[in-house]
Amino acid sequence: MAEVSIRPKPNGPYLIEGPVDIYDTAGNKLATDDRPRIALCRCGASSNKPFCDGTHSKIGFQAAEVINPESAEPQT
Ligand code: FES
Repeated sequence: MAEVSIRPKPNGPYLIEGPVDIYDTAGNKLATDDRPRIALCRCGASSNKPFCDGTHSKIGFQAAEVINPESAEPQT
C-alpha cells in the first residue's frame, strides 16, 4: 500500500492522505503538518489556493471523472 494517496472527490477537490510536503511557487513550505488529510482545489475558484474552501459546490464545478489514458504521462 502506498504511503501517500491522491484521490479526486466527485466534482470536488483532490484529497491527499499521507505524509506530503506542499510548497508555494516561491519555495515556501505550506503548513500542513496538523492535517491528516489535505484537499487541493481542482476547480480553480478557491479563495484559499492551493487548498479547497468549498467554493466548487457554489459554482457547480463539473470535473472530468474519467481518466483520459492519452493524457497520462508515460511510465519510465
Ligand atoms: S475544488 Fe473546492 S474550491 Fe476548488
